[in-house]
Amino acid sequence: MGDTITLENRGGADFTIREPAAPAHLDKISQEILRVKKELNAVILAHNYQIPEIQDLADYVGDSLGLSQQAAETKADVIVFCGVHFMAETAKILNPSKTVILPDRDAGCSLEQSCPADKLKAFQANNPNFYTIAYINCSAEVKALSDVICTSGNAKKIVEAAPTDRDLLFVPDENLGAWVTEQTNRPMTLWQGNCYAHVEFTHDSIMEIRKTHPDAPLVAHPECTKSVRLLADEICSTEKMVTFCQKSEAKALIIATEAGMLHRLQKECPGKEFIPAPTDSCRCNECRYMKMNTLPKLLSCMENLSPQVELSQDLIDKARAPIDRMLALSI
Ligand code: 13P
Ligand code: SF4
Repeated sequence: MGDTITLENRGGADFTIREPAAPAHLDKISQEILRVKKELNAVILAHNYQIPEIQDLADYVGDSLGLSQQAAETKADVIVFCGVHFMAETAKILNPSKTVILPDRDAGCSLEQSCPADKLKAFQANNPNFYTIAYINCSAEVKALSDVICTSGNAKKIVEAAPTDRDLLFVPDENLGAWVTEQTNRPMTLWQGNCYAHVEFTHDSIMEIRKTHPDAPLVAHPECTKSVRLLADEICSTEKMVTFCQKSEAKALIIATEAGMLHRLQKECPGKEFIPAPTDSCRCNECRYMKMNTLPKLLSCMENLSPQVELSQDLIDKARAPIDRMLALSI
């Protein structure tokens, strides 16, 4: 296993730079991925929900904020983005001259789908006073219609910095939006979208797991519904989950987010037990989009430089301004 260096205080998101494990310890396909990566002068960025094999190969593993910051700073010629489509799109907006590839173009997100740009445009037209704050889980077209972008790692900071003489519109996650309103006391009009995976956790499913682990704190993602948030000991982005669990004195913690997170937590917090929060029908919870990425698809996209993210210059320019505003506010 390779060395790990944790960087702190980068706009509230901590993330980890990994030295890839020595090729001799990897299977054939993983070794080939590392060989092609070197040939392409590529960087592999992976979200915390990716399968363990991809996380273990990646140069950077983190949350949406950490990944955007890495994408903005990378010196690599090719960005290989292992996450979902809107994340790769964000990397392209930040690096228009670089090649950005992803293992599966169809890896979408239910939040992105809930907010089509034409519907948002029509909604904004009815209230020109709206200052639109968009959660990063949205399309480039929606970003282009927004004043500022936020992630779960910086949403509180971004909403606090919003102008006080404007009506606030928060898109597309009603649960994250409601949580931020609770934190900031800033009323916002909330777009009616949600993450299909996180809303599967329920008050009853959490109470059930608590019967077997009564002393384990509950750590939940803010995309969970209020009935789950009310039971949580900590609500935070996936990256902040790592720091919270490292600092916690608890020996066992219940984690209410996508199950890929457990691999990262187990690596970063050896000796602790992580219990995946169940849903009403399942022992743990996976995002079908995040799990579309596999090692063969990762190798194939690198060998063929396809699928690639392609966006018009006009769209890149319009979508970039609100992302830059977020990055400036996140320092
Ligand atoms: P994070 O930015 O907290 O990793 O969240 C991304 C996401 O898609 C959660 O479902
Ligand atoms: Fe989108 Fe939910 Fe999957 Fe995150 S877990 S990528 S919000 S569908």
